[in-house]
Amino acid sequence: MTRVFSGIQPTGELHLGNYLGAIRNWAKMQHETDALFCVVDLHAVTVPKTPGEVGESTLRLSQLLMAAGLDPEVCTLFVQSHVREHTECAWLMECSVSFGELSRMTQFKDKSDQHKSFISAGLFTYPALQAADILLYDTEEVPVGDDQRQHVEITRDIAERFNSRYGETFVLPKAVVPKAAARVMDMQHPDKKMSKSLDSPKGTVGLLDEPKQIAKKIKSAVTDNDGEVRFDVAEKPGVSNLLSILGAATDRDPEALADEYEQYGQLKVDTADAVVALLEPFQERFRELEADPGETARLLKIGADKARETASTTVARAKAAIGFLAD
Ligand code: TRP
Repeated sequence: MTRVFSGIQPTGELHLGNYLGAIRNWAKMQHETDALFCVVDLHAVTVPKTPGEVGESTLRLSQLLMAAGLDPEVCTLFVQSHVREHTECAWLMECSVSFGELSRMTQFKDKSDQHKSFISAGLFTYPALQAADILLYDTEEVPVGDDQRQHVEITRDIAERFNSRYGETFVLPKAVVPKAAARVMDMQHPDKKMSKSLDSPKGTVGLLDEPKQIAKKIKSAVTDNDGEVRFDVAEKPGVSNLLSILGAATDRDPEALADEYEQYGQLKVDTADAVVALLEPFQERFRELEADPGETARLLKIGADKARETASTTVARAKAAIGFLAD
């Protein structure tokens, strides 16, 4: 089976875009591949946090992922900092990537613009840690959004360089950007991707929003005033977004759905109902997990133990390839 690895940062809450765009696909992939999913808490501290914040959001995100269907019995779901090999391997990666290569990363440029008052060295070497995440598990495929392609490319370059310096050690991974996944846009600014950083509470449908709130946000979604229901992302981003969401929630094709509607009103009502129905079982499962953090910890430990087995073998192999004096 194909070895798959992906990571997600424990920041903020998950929204409908995260779920329909990525997480739901992960839940499906876990049955078709040998998949590892990692809550990348070490990456989260590349920007300053208040004490305790990272742990809280790691617990919460882990519960959200489990509620969304990632089953610790089927995939390996774990927390990055629980497997020390990530930090150890990251150093080897830092020494296999150049300053120039890291300087070209667009995520670094964006994030260092956002956090001008303190740009940590960790923010700069972030891709080396990400390369460690991926290479530790002999990963073949990395399911990510388009914005992460560059980080998977640099991981490949690092692996190639390491292998040619020290001998075959790492498997070369490739990014897979699922095209079936819905691209969910902000309900108020349908030309922008739904995002927790957009600072648009009315435009972002949170996975834990109350059914009433969800319906309200969808019913007040920005559309246009030509009144025609048609799937056309460029000309009609708002209406197309509703069609995409309804399509993703009901497993239907958005273009075919468009033919069934005469009015925006009905489209909004049906989209809201479909999203509420989709999220109901998820929210119920989340409440159960939330009430029992001990159980979450137990499940995460199973994941970390499993991950560590592979990670420690890979680090040992890499260190042996370089030829460190054995301890
Ligand atoms: N950098 C990724 C993001 O911002 C998160 C991430 C960290 C990741 N390590 C990874 C994704 C390994 C895929 C594989 O979304």
